Amino acid sequence: MAAKLKDYQVENNQIKLVYESQIYFIKIIEAGVIQLFEADYKDYNSFAVEDNNFNSAELDFEVENKKGKLIITTAELIIEIKNDFKVDFYDLDHNPISKDYSKKRDPFIRRKSSNIAEEEGHKLQEELKNQPVEVLKEITAEEKFYGLGDRTGHLNKKGYSYQLWNTDDPSPHVESFEVLYKSIPFILGLKGDYAYGLFFDNTFRSYFDFGKENDDYFYYAAEGGSLNYYFINGPSAKKVIDSYTKLTGKTPLPQKWTLGNQQSRWSYHSRERVEEIADNFRKKDIPCDVIYLDIDYMDDYKVFTWDDNKFKNMKEMIENLHQKGFKVVTIIDPGVKKEKGYQVYDQCLENGFYLTDQDGIPYVNEVWPGECIFPDFINSDCRAWWGNNHQKLLEIGIDGIWNDMNEPASFNGPLPEDVRFDNDGQKMEHKEAHNIYGHLMSKSTYEGINKVSNKRPFVITRASYAGTQKYSTFWTGDNHSLWQHLRMALPMLMNMGLSGLSFSGTDIGGFGSDATAELLTRWYQASIFTPLFRNHSSIGSRDQEPWAFKQEVEEISKKYIKLRYKFIPYLYDLLWQGKKTGLPVMRPLFLHNQSDSNTYNLNDQFLAGENILMAPVVQQGQKYRKVYLPDGKWLDYWTGEEHQGNNYILKESPLDTLPMYIKKGSIIPNYEVQNYIGEKKMDELKLKIYPGEGDYLHYQDDGQSFAYREGEFNLYKFIQEENDQSYEVTLDLKKQRYDELYSSFKIEFFNTKIDEVRVDTQKIDFEKGSQSILFNIDGDFSKVELIKA
Ligand code: GLC
Repeated sequence: MAAKLKDYQVENNQIKLVYESQIYFIKIIEAGVIQLFEADYKDYNSFAVEDNNFNSAELDFEVENKKGKLIITTAELIIEIKNDFKVDFYDLDHNPISKDYSKKRDPFIRRKSSNIAEEEGHKLQEELKNQPVEVLKEITAEEKFYGLGDRTGHLNKKGYSYQLWNTDDPSPHVESFEVLYKSIPFILGLKGDYAYGLFFDNTFRSYFDFGKENDDYFYYAAEGGSLNYYFINGPSAKKVIDSYTKLTGKTPLPQKWTLGNQQSRWSYHSRERVEEIADNFRKKDIPCDVIYLDIDYMDDYKVFTWDDNKFKNMKEMIENLHQKGFKVVTIIDPGVKKEKGYQVYDQCLENGFYLTDQDGIPYVNEVWPGECIFPDFINSDCRAWWGNNHQKLLEIGIDGIWNDMNEPASFNGPLPEDVRFDNDGQKMEHKEAHNIYGHLMSKSTYEGINKVSNKRPFVITRASYAGTQKYSTFWTGDNHSLWQHLRMALPMLMNMGLSGLSFSGTDIGGFGSDATAELLTRWYQASIFTPLFRNHSSIGSRDQEPWAFKQEVEEISKKYIKLRYKFIPYLYDLLWQGKKTGLPVMRPLFLHNQSDSNTYNLNDQFLAGENILMAPVVQQGQKYRKVYLPDGKWLDYWTGEEHQGNNYILKESPLDTLPMYIKKGSIIPNYEVQNYIGEKKMDELKLKIYPGEGDYLHYQDDGQSFAYREGEFNLYKFIQEENDQSYEVTLDLKKQRYDELYSSFKIEFFNTKIDEVRVDTQKIDFEKGSQSILFNIDGDFSKVELIKA
């Protein structure tokens, strides 16, 4: 207990608060981003906040001491600090945003007199014990909680509790799961319609209780370390996400092919099988960009090796696949097989890059190869060594790396809490290092690839911590082919996106258990806007490639995979925007409709960017789907029918129909469908224009290198306006440094009541369809006028 505030000192943008028994700091990072930490935390280096992008040098704030209450005023916030380091945040009109809870914890009573239920195998939820680091904040009735990475359950976490301890549990993930693979201690709160964020940067096992034990307060605790968290002011959720990703990093621009269709399966166990799968995609005219090699490709599951018998001449296989337009991604797990003479093991031992027990003996546990040692990714020299190991794979042409089992998972019981790591000279125990193990493995992989390749590294990881988005993309681990898991995918991915993990996806069709034809079809449909678009399934489960079921399923899956390819430029634009704004690709509706309470608990709909609303069917057998349309006017993607927003509608949705709506006033770029990204030179950009007022920024670059950082890209701004007699579309080429400009645009204008089309005053011909008119124009047009009939 900190007790009474005795003194305080202002040191640059930091206020030191001296209490009777403890010292705390409050650091003004920006007018709306405030860090609060205990003195012990001071010299600690964050693994998430490596290099924050705020300019705190010229911050203006005032501090006054009012009857034992310290009041800090910034350009956005009034912060009141009371005894016991209780801190309240107010807006400048003194409306409370977030207040510490001043009373004691008062959990509900779990009535049980003995453990009789456990005898039958019921697992009782454990009580939350008091922890060395604890924060309690008031909950007001209208509070909603989002974020926290990859949790099960609903979009809004109010009323639930979770733990952060990266865990590989292959049993079907259900709503009562408190842990999963990732630890992202960030939450986005919505108080009424006012958004704020809280980011608790502490890597120890942590607890979040969103008003479950008592609906008067929100509880956060960590089993070790010291108090260190950030309050991030809104009022818009977009601003909170921007600030959070300024702290922890934004998702970098990926190579364009990473947005293509990706095919994986645990049990593509030979070169022949891999080639057969690849050829099938081309034969069946189903676009595909990537084939994954799961652990089957390795020699005895030894990382950085491959099996020359099953995969004869890997280099040649990869070259052939490249020629057919496929990229190849291989899995790399952390466990290093304990085997003398195996180079990776020998080097790991020689350099002391392994985890040890308390006596310094290499710590051994079992994973796929049997007994393994574990590289110490906390140690930067180990990370550099591990990163260099990828060179061998890159030399034979591997295009990306898939990091798995990096919670770390182990088959012979969990790693004990006192297993030792070396934090560059300082000892660290597993209980502190666990949640950042996967994060630092991804960092090592990213940096290893980056050193030798001039392309943007592609890494995909299962385990992560806050900030891993700087290094890797994500998938949600071992889901099952269950409708429940398809349903869960949507809120899970939306919350991951809000937590900075924009480039994410699920195993399409489900990993464990057997998919059904209908489930696979609906899963493809639901995923066409998940940045990672990968079908993956487990060894022993039913085949799950798009052709594994009857013809109808293949045709529908193909239709939607092709639809995905049309939207590649839109997805790429969203990722380019996200690099600046931190906004995810898949967004809950409230992100753009923050005062619309109908959106706060909407689990089964999302926005792809701002203008495309997706309402996938996630119920078995469902042929009609209820869709909520928020403010504005929305056009049915398939029929062009216009709907008024703020409204629920019912959409007929037989198996081949994915309910999808475009906001009026949108301009959406499309490409021609290709077998793989880069197959065709995209000289022409298609623009779907849904008349109204609006503009759109389209980004174009080489799709793979870092030349864009030197300005080698083009930016096209399209603006549309409506007057009494006409519609106008103008092009403003904002920046032009990449030399492959489009030579033409194909315009699809969604209004048929047009008499005449003039491009830069010249009348041109157009084609009339049932919902739209179509015409082609040169790449250097400046204005199109569409005269109303
Ligand atoms: C883990 C991964 C899964 C992979 C399997 C074999 O279960 O989550 O994706 O296929 O290991 O490597």
